[in-house]
This record gives sequence, C-alpha cells and structure tokens, in this order.
Amino acid sequence: MKIRVKINGQDRSFEIDPSEYLLDTLRKNGYMSVKRGCDTGSCGACTVLLDGRPVISCSVLSASVDGHEITTAEGIANQMKEYMHALASEGADQCGFCQPGLLVMIYYLKKMIDKGLIERDKETVRRYLIGNLCRCSGYLPQERAIFRFLGVD
Ligand code: FES
Ligand code: FES
Repeated sequence: MKIRVKINGQDRSFEIDPSEYLLDTLRKNGYMSVKRGCDTGSCGACTVLLDGRPVISCSVLSASVDGHEITTAEGIANQMKEYMHALASEGADQCGFCQPGLLVMIYYLKKMIDKGLIERDKETVRRYLIGNLCRCSGYLPQERAIFRFLGVD
C-alpha cells in the first residue's frame, strides 16, 4: 500500500507493507537518526513527533500515519544547536545512541514549556523523559545540560 506523509516539512510518499512499523519505514527511507534500541516500546531511541506530539515509532503502524506530519531529529538539528553545545560542555554525550530520540523530546518540551503548557520544573521534566533511556551517561550530565537549555532551576 502507499502512504503520503510530510516529513521534516517535505512531502513524501512510501510504498509500505500494511504490517510495517514507522521505525522501519523511516530508516528504510534514509531517516537514520531514528534508532532501533529495543523494538519493544521501552527505550525511547526511536522517538519522533507525529503531528507535533512525541511517539515511539517502533510501536506505530506506518499505515496509521497516512496524511500526517512527522518530525525526526534530522529536521530539527539546526534549531537545537544550543542544546547540543550544552550537552558537549557538560560532557554528557558518549556513544550518542540515545541522543536523536532525546533531542526530539527536548525540542517538544522546550516548545510546550515556552507556551506555558508544561511546568518549568525539574520533576516535571524528569517525568516527561522517563521513557528515554541512556546506557552510558548515568543521566546526571544529561540532566544538567537539559535543565540549562530549558531554563529549569
Ligand atoms: S526502539 Fe522504540 S522504544 Fe526502543
Ligand atoms: S550516550 Fe550512549 S546510550 Fe546515551
């Protein structure tokens, strides 16, 4: 079957298998920032935005996104340079495998916090990021960078 989507602002159409997951469709078509960590909906490495809201793409059927809008880390990297500088200065980036999914979540949180739709406090941010696992950093350097970027005290 064929689906039409807007990805990172570009209209695309893909031939997919009806049982295919969005993670596979995206990776097959060159969106390699979308990582396969667990493939069971547990790690957050495959997070993308679907119509502006975060989803784990390993758990979304590609057929269900026909006509919708998707944002991957490739599409927002330019707008997230300040965050990436904060990560580097905190020594938070190690293997980097978790980063594209986390980048998408931080981008979403920044928008929501700036609009006043999500509280600007540490516990709230931690709650939103509970599904983004990192096997390297121990979380503390990442947290410092995230709080600094989001202006959370
Ligand atoms: S690969 Fe999708 S949540 Fe881990
Ligand atoms: S830096 Fe390696 S998984 Fe997070």
